[in-house]
Amino acid sequence: MHVGILTGGGDCPGLNAVIRAVTLSLVRQCGARVTGIERGFHGLVERRSRPLAPADVAHILAEGGTILGTHNACDPFRWQGADRSADALDYARSLGLDALVVIGGDGTMDIAHRIGQLGLPVVGVPKTIDNDLPATERTFGFDSAVAVVAEALDRVATTARSHGRVMIVETMGRYAGWIALAGGMAGGADAILLPELPFSVDAVATFAKARERDNGCTLVCIAEGARAEGQGLVVRETIASSPDPLRLGGVGGWLQQQLQPRLDSEVRSTLLGHTQRGGTPTAYDRVLATRFGWAAAELVREGRFGRMVVLRGEEIDSVEIAGIAGRSRPVPPDHPLLRAARDTGVMLGH
Ligand code: F6P
Repeated sequence: MHVGILTGGGDCPGLNAVIRAVTLSLVRQCGARVTGIERGFHGLVERRSRPLAPADVAHILAEGGTILGTHNACDPFRWQGADRSADALDYARSLGLDALVVIGGDGTMDIAHRIGQLGLPVVGVPKTIDNDLPATERTFGFDSAVAVVAEALDRVATTARSHGRVMIVETMGRYAGWIALAGGMAGGADAILLPELPFSVDAVATFAKARERDNGCTLVCIAEGARAEGQGLVVRETIASSPDPLRLGGVGGWLQQQLQPRLDSEVRSTLLGHTQRGGTPTAYDRVLATRFGWAAAELVREGRFGRMVVLRGEEIDSVEIAGIAGRSRPVPPDHPLLRAARDTGVMLGH
């Protein structure tokens, strides 16, 4: 059996742990030959790959990024305006691939689904720091991003207290507020602003004003996809060739400008950006990524293709990629962590 692996979309802590687990499981359990496709689906179109033996995946468990490289605009069906899916398939066939393990988020799963329909058997592994893929309670990488946010909040909190400032920390997460919610709770944010709950600038200003008097400072954790009522998303740039062309970023700075004239204390904003995606995965993500990689290898061995591994409670399961491709999972309004936030006095935008 000859199995390809690729990592698609943005990088994420834990990608290498998955590559390692898939490779070791397949080689050890069924003597499979494993090939890494370089830079996501780019590698299939541009015919770039390399063999992966156990020695090639040694010592990468804790390494951030992906040894295979990745790309966030590499849809073979829309390749610089052309459909190159036949070329991608042709390369997979010329390599003699029996299956392809695709590690990625919703855009990558959508491509994997369509490649699967063309006849290349695929298995998916859910990756994204955003934690916004449907059907799985967790994507690997999320825990690592949350740890970065929590540490950042711990750090700016001392400045907030020392100067009596309003400190705004902006997280990633695209259109979902998972990172800001979990990171904000872990870092003790006083206010958490999410895409799912459009906020009132007046209410945030009133909240911070009251804290000027009583507490002296305010820590705000805002998701990049959050928006004030009646306002649009704050878009940093547009990348036409990407499955999702919008790159968000800057809403923290926008909120700073709105709040400053209404408050006596100084307001500062910090954009965490790609620091949330880089570096070594947390222990939790290393274990989850390893379990996902092992489970993906099991699906390949059992010939159960067109499926993506998922986490349900403590158990690893799998679902059809068809059902999740191109869909996302926002924070539901009745999520227990939102209730815990409200009940412990965290301001959620109103
Ligand atoms: O989906 C992961 C993510 O990091 C989002 O949180 C963020 O909006 C986006 O990717 C950033 O993409 P890029 O690396 O292309 O700027």
